[in-house]
Amino acid sequence: MITTTLTRRLGIAHPVVSAGMARVAQADLVVAVSEAGGMGCLGGVSFMPDQLRAEIEKIKAGTGNPFAVNLLLPDSLTTEDEAQWEPVRRLWSALPEHDRARLAGVEALLTPGAVARQVEVVMEAAPPAVVLTFATPAWFIEECRKRGILVFALVGSVGKAVEASRAGVDFIVAQGSEGGGHTGYASTLALVPGVIDAVEQPVLAAGGIADGRGLAAVLSLGAVGAWVGTRFIASTESYGHDAFKQRVVSGKLNQVTLTRAYTGKPLRTFRNAWTDQWESRAGDIAAFPQQYAVAGTRVETGYQEGDLDWGMMPAGQSVQIIDEILPAGDIVRGMVAEAEEIISRLHGTVSG
Ligand SMILES: Cc1cc2nc3c(=O)[nH]c(=O)nc-3n(C[C@H](O)[C@H](O)[C@H](O)COP(=O)(O)O)c2cc1C
Repeated sequence: MITTTLTRRLGIAHPVVSAGMARVAQADLVVAVSEAGGMGCLGGVSFMPDQLRAEIEKIKAGTGNPFAVNLLLPDSLTTEDEAQWEPVRRLWSALPEHDRARLAGVEALLTPGAVARQVEVVMEAAPPAVVLTFATPAWFIEECRKRGILVFALVGSVGKAVEASRAGVDFIVAQGSEGGGHTGYASTLALVPGVIDAVEQPVLAAGGIADGRGLAAVLSLGAVGAWVGTRFIASTESYGHDAFKQRVVSGKLNQVTLTRAYTGKPLRTFRNAWTDQWESRAGDIAAFPQQYAVAGTRVETGYQEGDLDWGMMPAGQSVQIIDEILPAGDIVRGMVAEAEEIISRLHGTVSG
């Protein structure tokens, strides 16, 4: 049994949290991880508000254990300023109806007012925890406090960690650039202790953790838990085309790259024809979130249709060490058992 501030405060058995991956982390994955004694996090950003409500209800029906919901609340998504939305709406409207229907997973990020309504849904549902990425607005944290919701902030730099710490979040997740999805440029090994030294809150580590070796390593750095994304793509309960899951299983370190080609922000994803094409003219890439609309169906065809050449398939460098699709509960239990074994072995290597 590994006990940390995270397990004690949340009342969970294991210090493992599955990342709130848009599209990939839906109710089934969250329930499986929370039932196994970790904490599952719903990839909330990819749901329109009514769907988000339904997913949270499904989680509550599936487990009585703590779970979290991930939201993105940068000004560019919460603003009601029509002029700011205009470029996104113009690109969205130009898409053929058929293509718009294939963009289900990013609609909420491209629809004015949708993120504000996601917030209302989350406040009504009051999950045990919320994980914020990109921004930690004080008004949101205050609303969470009133409802007893714990707030985690996912950050990729010491500066962002200090910002989130001052905003009053309860936990910080420091994500190194090895990680899949949107990420910064600092590596996990340097970032996690850097963040621990800079903030008072307990810190979880993310980026490149896919087994017990990674869990034991970040506990050694002083982290209170691991926030794990890519490993759970290759799980039975994750959402995603089998070709995507198989690619994670067969993937090698040099097949993932950091690119703004899909969303306008640096995203670690499998390199393919789409990323190569845009990287050769990176200056033309639009800002976040416009590039989502520019990328159009390319964003979704990875998850839905298994389009390896053009579709977005975010994944981290840990693809190198993932070689099997497993039930999410087995992943959690396997990580913890391996970490326990390593920790007790290391203990034996220290002498007077
Ligand atoms: C497919 C995928 C989708 C992701 N979507 C989100 C997201 O919607 N919100 C978010 O905060 N992070 C997202 N991330 C980043 C994860 O939350 C997490 O920080 C990262 O996966 C950790 O590194 P790892 O992949 O090496 O485990 C995503 C990552 C992946 C691989």
